[in-house]
Amino acid sequence: MSDPFAALYHAVYEQGQLFGVDQPLPADPLQTPTAPARSHSIAIGGGAFGDEGKGRIVDELCGILAQRAEQLIVYRWNGGANAGHTVIVGDQRLALHQIPSGALHRAAVGVLGKGMVIHPEDLLEESFQVAQQLGCEPTQLALRVDASAVLALDTHRAFESALRAWEQGGSGATGRGISPAYADVLLRHPVRVRDLLAEDWRERLGRHYALYAALIGGLGAQIEAISVPSLCGERCVGDLNAFLSRLEGTRAFLQAVAIDAYPYLAARWAQPERYAFIFEGAQAVGLDPRFGVYPDVTASDPTFGGILASSEGLIAPEQIAVRASALKATYSSSVGMRRLPTHMPDPLAARIREDAHEYGATTRRPRDILYFDLPCLSYFARVNRTTHLVLTHLDIAYPDVPIRVCTHYTDLSGAPMPYRPDQRYLDSLRAHFRDLPSWDGAALRGVKRLADLPRSALQYIAFVTQALGAAPLMATTGAQRDALLSWLP
Ligand code: IMP
Repeated sequence: MSDPFAALYHAVYEQGQLFGVDQPLPADPLQTPTAPARSHSIAIGGGAFGDEGKGRIVDELCGILAQRAEQLIVYRWNGGANAGHTVIVGDQRLALHQIPSGALHRAAVGVLGKGMVIHPEDLLEESFQVAQQLGCEPTQLALRVDASAVLALDTHRAFESALRAWEQGGSGATGRGISPAYADVLLRHPVRVRDLLAEDWRERLGRHYALYAALIGGLGAQIEAISVPSLCGERCVGDLNAFLSRLEGTRAFLQAVAIDAYPYLAARWAQPERYAFIFEGAQAVGLDPRFGVYPDVTASDPTFGGILASSEGLIAPEQIAVRASALKATYSSSVGMRRLPTHMPDPLAARIREDAHEYGATTRRPRDILYFDLPCLSYFARVNRTTHLVLTHLDIAYPDVPIRVCTHYTDLSGAPMPYRPDQRYLDSLRAHFRDLPSWDGAALRGVKRLADLPRSALQYIAFVTQALGAAPLMATTGAQRDALLSWLP
């Protein structure tokens, strides 16, 4: 059985070709993008199964773009309170869930787009925590929420919990009611931010509560008694009055931040010299309901394609100058119930898990460690229209252990098989690997210049970027904030 990357291996490791990765990019794609892309626009999303560590890169990009434009629009197009990233504000670490991390930059306005599902109480609490750090009121934050975004409420969290009990385990979710909220859209009874702001909001939300009480009752549970997670701790949904009164407490805040995002975005997108755009994705392509490992997938569209729908047709992926997928450089991690043929066994997986702190940010759940999987990651790069890669954790490499990458899959008879987005199908495959020369990750830690990378790291970057058909944009080389290198000229 032949390895589809054999010729590339020969070019990089035997002929010594680096495909230019030892040099900065020949031109700055943010300044002089190729038509039809708009200058000063970049999208950054997860290229594997989430938790790739792109927050620092967003931070860095905010710093770069703030020098070139009057204002940054940091736009989030998907997901909801299922995301979690830690940011440093002053000397405090803050966990963000619905607010994009770039929105805290002083030159930025954070826009929560139509493609998101919003939990109002958690958003208010998160805004309150951020505002407290910044010394202002939540309504004074530079935050906008599309009034068309769908609400993901305690009712949805309760339904998810009741469904999980009914299914005896379910297919994996964060418990934040994400898929029921998106399902409401297809069932044509969503409640949106604007419904909560309408005069008759009590009737609208009351009908919604009654529907979910019936659905949950049908699953043999009682909505009032179901305990749901929230940023203020676990609590019972309670009766209609309790439900409405919690929501009532968020209305003034939502009134202050809600906008009709389409005209807001359109006016700014038309002025590339004044406004820079950073599209900050949540989750990752490997969690996409169509492309991820079904059924353990999320419900939003985490691909760059999702920006087109969220912006109501204003911004197509090809118009965004850089579409960067973040990946852990030498392995992948996954939290959930999905299983891949590239599952890495201990002791190496345990060593990586400890060295890279691969534990869930909120749950402390150990993440599964996977070998770098070219059939799967190249499929993700293709469906995501990725142009650039952000490679994180370049320091997770050991001089005594080669970097094992999966080059292809076969079935049990040895016939070549592609990645397909389905768990039962993937269970029937065997992964085939090639070992690539490693480097001393500890010695590389903190490197900030391409010239200081060891040749084996450059070869590896040349190999994976060529294999995935994207150029390198940035890499992180350690946990320190400034342990970062860039290919931007
Ligand atoms: P949901 O998004 O809550 O419906 O969860 C669906 C699947 O996506 C579960 O396996 C979650 O663990 C996973 N998931 C959702 N959000 C994230 C994330 O931000 N990082 C990693 N996994 C996630």
